[in-house]
Amino acid sequence: MDKTHKWTLWNREFNSPILLASGTAGFGLELMEQGFLEGAAAVISKATTLKPLVGNPPPRIIETRFGLLNSIGLANPGVDEVLRTVLPEAAGLPVPLIVNVAGETVEEFPAVIERLEESPVQFGYEVNVSCPNVAAGGIAFGASPEIVERISTLVKRVSSRPFSVKLTPNEGSIVESAKAAEAGGADAVTVCNTFLGMKVDWRTGKALLKRNVGGYSSPALLPLTVARVFITREAIKIPVLASGGVNRAEDILELLAAGAAMVQVGTWLMRRPDAAFELRKGVINLLKEPVRQ
Ligand SMILES: Cc1cc2nc3c(=O)[nH]c(=O)nc-3n(C[C@H](O)[C@H](O)[C@H](O)COP(=O)(O)O)c2cc1C
Repeated sequence: MDKTHKWTLWNREFNSPILLASGTAGFGLELMEQGFLEGAAAVISKATTLKPLVGNPPPRIIETRFGLLNSIGLANPGVDEVLRTVLPEAAGLPVPLIVNVAGETVEEFPAVIERLEESPVQFGYEVNVSCPNVAAGGIAFGASPEIVERISTLVKRVSSRPFSVKLTPNEGSIVESAKAAEAGGADAVTVCNTFLGMKVDWRTGKALLKRNVGGYSSPALLPLTVARVFITREAIKIPVLASGGVNRAEDILELLAAGAAMVQVGTWLMRRPDAAFELRKGVINLLKEPVRQ
């Protein structure tokens, strides 16, 4: 375990291992205004797509007993607007920005990144292959190692910056998809996106989310993330960015010990937007404790 209180991603050194997860921190601008980016190494933006997306009909977030179901639908203003208004403002962030990119077709991923390359602001990209592949009937791109490799190769061709491929835990083999991302030239993999979940009102028999199923996140999922980080780390050489179930400093250290290079915090930010500061402080304090064998 690192005792120097430094963590490295893509040749850059950070004094925190914490990344703010996509979709839970916007582009970091509101958190910056509140002074809540202290303790974070970098912000990962909300998804950016080629065309603006209005997203799914409400409700978009449902609390369940042990976690959160979300069905946002990649709502975002589209890459043109992100380039015109958001990224110039994000140039003032006190931490680097990683732009999360999504697409409805394989070609859309490199197309968005080619446009984003016009901006000098972002540090890198996170390529969300966990979203449904519309052309293939809604199965996540990430379920197919061939498609993951293809998207990674196409992104590599147009990107001058490093990128992580964000994998799905829901379909296919996460290890095979991680290997495919590496083979296609990815600089990291993010393990992983939310788990497919659903809530049904048994009285009416109807799903509470309009699209029936959504993404489930919960601190109870931490061991599932730990296992997936561990098995993917063993299979590839590129860094693994952990995502899923973190709300304590111990969780971050556990994921780092399982092989993660950096650790994302998502849903917890919705309860505690200032969480990065406390979590980092907790990590540093725990690392000062004598190691028990
Ligand atoms: C409200 C919400 C919106 C999200 N939007 C995105 C998104 O646009 N792109 C993406 O790759 N992941 C998205 N995610 C997934 C998170 O980035 C993260 O991977 C996941 O929630 C697991 O981490 P957590 O347990 O810390 O929340 C979203 C999650 C939530 C809760």
